[in-house]
Amino acid sequence: MTDASPSPGPSAAQPYPPGFVWGVSTSAYQIEGAAAEDGRGPSIWDVRCRTQGGVVNGDTGDVACDHYHRMADDVALMTGLGVDAYRFSVSWPRVLPRGRGGVNEAGLDFYDRLIDRLLESGIEPWLCLYHWDLPQALQDLGGWANRDSVGWFGDYAALCARRYGDRVKRWATFNEFSVFTLFGYAFGWGAPSIADRATHLAVIHHVNLAHGAGVDTLRALVPGASIGAVHSVQPMRPASSRPEDVEAAALFDEHWNWAFPDPQLRAHYPPRIARAIEPHVRPGDMARIARPLDWFGLNHYAPVYGRRDDSLIWGFGFGSPPPEMTRTAIDWPYDPDCFRDTLIDLTRRYRLPIYVTENGYGTKAPETPDADGRVVDADRLAYLQAYIAAMAEAKARGADVRGYFVWSLLDNFEWGGGYGTRFGIVRVDFTTQARIPKESARWYAGLIRGA
Ligand code: FCB
Repeated sequence: MTDASPSPGPSAAQPYPPGFVWGVSTSAYQIEGAAAEDGRGPSIWDVRCRTQGGVVNGDTGDVACDHYHRMADDVALMTGLGVDAYRFSVSWPRVLPRGRGGVNEAGLDFYDRLIDRLLESGIEPWLCLYHWDLPQALQDLGGWANRDSVGWFGDYAALCARRYGDRVKRWATFNEFSVFTLFGYAFGWGAPSIADRATHLAVIHHVNLAHGAGVDTLRALVPGASIGAVHSVQPMRPASSRPEDVEAAALFDEHWNWAFPDPQLRAHYPPRIARAIEPHVRPGDMARIARPLDWFGLNHYAPVYGRRDDSLIWGFGFGSPPPEMTRTAIDWPYDPDCFRDTLIDLTRRYRLPIYVTENGYGTKAPETPDADGRVVDADRLAYLQAYIAAMAEAKARGADVRGYFVWSLLDNFEWGGGYGTRFGIVRVDFTTQARIPKESARWYAGLIRGA
């Protein structure tokens, strides 16, 4: 970053005391590439991209940002930004190519090098165990629909805890439980491309149990661990006042927002799901799920408008926001007040410190550099400014927010959006792999410097 970086403006920086954590987030499959290198096994996302379709352009994560080979440069970019922390995920099939059993030393070494490089650079590693890339070998055994997945995840957590727990103290079990389970097992729009009610219910319960097993494992094996889970909370609003939309949105709300944090933090499922999930719940399960946690990870982007949709298995689906609502370049509602209110409500509901583990702005624009080589992403910059100001308001009204991670450090493989959707504050040219910090990155660096 240079001295020419735009100034953050006093109102954005002042509410954040020293110790407030400023970071950036990524995930393994979205950036690493090297999909078939050094012994990595296939994940369910490799299989979805290759054989199940549904990804823009036929894109895959085979190369992605080539972060596996460019890790040191990417940490240097973070040093340039001045971030305090980096949230990344471990690729389960890179360290356990068949999901269990034989470990892959080369894969484990990669994260050793990353963690060491971060620590040498004064950046705290925040390690997320699961950001959606289940080893395909485990999917072949039923994946999360098989109750044995609880033990598989516990063993994988133990491997990571033993290997990295001397240096990594911030741990998250899963990223966005509700999103990968809904999209992967109910809508069929994400890996492993299933749409089946009974499978979806079993998966919800087993993933909750796996979370509990992961927490217990980390607690036992990592002295001084600070453990959380990362939830997608996007307030649900009915797309119309028609009773069928209101009722569908209520069920959608339970699934999207509460099916995981409620059992994990209050030891019960929300009412409609509780009835349906009962056959999967064995005595003692709720206590196994509800293990004490140190923080709540919030990924927030926009409210969701739910409606009745009989083409989808649960009868709920996505409606349109009101026409007068401002939207981002990928048509997501733009509503910083909703972010502020979500932070306040979650503080009241769960009484845990909150880290905003993802928030950011996506566009389908190519964001090519201008004649001076600058990438002027004015809309993303304005979005971050407004959302960070909304977070300050939330703090002033009692929300216990302790940190904020931008999604994302880099443009990357944006799941079904492939490489056509860019969320990075650093631009990636996917032909040359050249990185250019965008204007939003310069602004964010300035904010952190002033914070
Ligand atoms: C979240 C995911 C993350 C990224 C952002 C845009 O749902 O956790 O991987 O795709 O959305």
